[in-house]
Amino acid sequence: MGPGVGTQLDRFDKLKIDHIYGVELNPAFVSPLLAEVETAELQGKYTVISGAVEDERLLAEYGLKAGSVDSIVCIGTLCSVSNPEQTMRWMYELLKPGGVFIFWEHRRSRDFLTRLVQGFWNPLWQFVMGGCNLSRSTGDIIRNAGVWDPRDSEIEVQKSLASEWSIMPRVEGRLIKRV
Ligand SMILES: C[S@@+](CC[C@H](N)C(=O)[O-])C[C@H]1O[C@@H](n2cnc3c(N)ncnc32)[C@H](O)[C@@H]1O
Repeated sequence: MGPGVGTQLDRFDKLKIDHIYGVELNPAFVSPLLAEVETAELQGKYTVISGAVEDERLLAEYGLKAGSVDSIVCIGTLCSVSNPEQTMRWMYELLKPGGVFIFWEHRRSRDFLTRLVQGFWNPLWQFVMGGCNLSRSTGDIIRNAGVWDPRDSEIEVQKSLASEWSIMPRVEGRLIKRV
């Protein structure tokens, strides 16, 4: 989901992949993404889909429909979709029962002063950073998208106070769609 220019592609273990569909909204990223697919030696195992992940008809052309996907990797993307709750529910639907949602996102701080700073910067930040919103409760949005299996799921919100002082504190984890 939102692979951008493919910065994260070298994290994938080629031997464990059947096929990756990289759904990227920004058409300007398609060409560098394709170049990165070659660098990461993922040719034949990676299809770039140019468009929005919410575009059900586009995804269906590639056989991606509700209940069809083994795993979704979402890194630094939920901050910039226009309706994160809706997008997240759709990604939950796309997963097979037992499918995995793997994520590393930033979120609204739990520290009051930092939240004020996030709110102060947000309008300019969104304008300059392609719609990136600093003030979303991303962990809750992910958690509330559907029913996750508590046995094997992990969701971690950085706990140290210092991380709450960052304007981009993190939430990360892997959640398993309940069978
Ligand atoms: C901050 S970048 C992160 C890129 C990549 N995941 C990484 O970690 O380097 C967010 C990416 O999500 C893409 N994006 C935003 N909304 C999207 C959507 N609705 N469907 C697909 N991609 C989207 C943007 O075009 C951008 O490339």
